[in-house]
Amino acid sequence: MNTEVYRVDPEKIDENIINKAADIIKNGGVVAFPTETVYGLGGDATNEEAAERIYSAKGRPSDNPLIIHVSSPHDAEKYAYTNELYYKLCEAFSPGPLTVILPKKETIPHATSGGLDTVAVRIPDNKIALALIKAAGRAIAAPSANSSGKPSPTRAEHVLDDLNGKIPMIIDGGECRVGVESTVIKLDGNKCTVLRPGGVTKAQLLRVCSCVELDKGLFEKPTEDFKPLAPGMKYKHYSPSAEVYMVKGNEKNVCDFMRKQLCENERIGIICYDDMEITGKYVKYIPKDSAMQAHELFDILRYFDKTDAEKIYTVIPDGNELGLAVLNRLTKAAGFKTVSV
Ligand code: TXA
Ligand code: MG
Repeated sequence: MNTEVYRVDPEKIDENIINKAADIIKNGGVVAFPTETVYGLGGDATNEEAAERIYSAKGRPSDNPLIIHVSSPHDAEKYAYTNELYYKLCEAFSPGPLTVILPKKETIPHATSGGLDTVAVRIPDNKIALALIKAAGRAIAAPSANSSGKPSPTRAEHVLDDLNGKIPMIIDGGECRVGVESTVIKLDGNKCTVLRPGGVTKAQLLRVCSCVELDKGLFEKPTEDFKPLAPGMKYKHYSPSAEVYMVKGNEKNVCDFMRKQLCENERIGIICYDDMEITGKYVKYIPKDSAMQAHELFDILRYFDKTDAEKIYTVIPDGNELGLAVLNRLTKAAGFKTVSV
């Protein structure tokens, strides 16, 4: 299959390109498109065959449910049983990087919801994504548009690297603003549980929900008896081909350890802060600001796949605010492997 890439300016949307993509979706096909978080691989959320095409292009296990993208809170009514808290959350954070899990209606097949009776709903804050949902006239089911297990794509080139020849069309809307995926939450009365930290932080959620808990699956390695609440969080994820290790210790020890590794082996990748003054062939610097870290993280992880690095050592970000999402993605990229120095 030939994968066509169409550049669209979000400030001057070319309706012909949006309609072409919407036609593919209406006919059960899939299209990659930009959102404010990461690129999504979209198909008709109400069509089982479209869901199968999504799983197959990504090589994704079919028990991992898809997020459905709608254009307004009211639009969600067609697909899910909403409640008062859902509307309050939408008022505060939608459109935006928040995904809410709700009981699903019959319109959503089990192929889309990974066999669950719930469905994850989100309203993306991206003009191209919203135009596409409206033109398709239905909810668009879309996981991140990467091969399963790889870091999510924040640029059209990343999508092409993973899915070239597997999908008919990519809409290139430039770099994604947030850079990590949406926050996925489950509601229970006035309480919410974060199943995946993302663009909306715990502190922000606390302005609307009286109690916000973090799923303990975010911090513990899954086992046979212990699984995170979001099925997708149990898989190794966000990983470049090289093995990733998180380096734990005071800054001086971390610097010394990283320099030593670089001296001993040419094929070492390093992720560190620029003020650590570490230099080497495959050294990538991350900013200290967590929003900037989020913006750059997946591009950095993907960079190493273009090198012959065999091991990557990374600093551990502080995990505050948006940093929690960054910490979660790095921990998963490392498969929880830590080196203490
Ligand atoms: O920012 C985002 O959320 C991006 C863009 C494209 O919208 N999408 C995305 O989708 O990251 P995906 O499929 O890569 O991740 C969805 C996560 C998975 O961990 C999945 O298991 C979880 O949400 N999820 C989806 N539906 C769920 C459900 N009904 N119950 C529990 N977890 C669910
Ligand atoms: Mg994903």
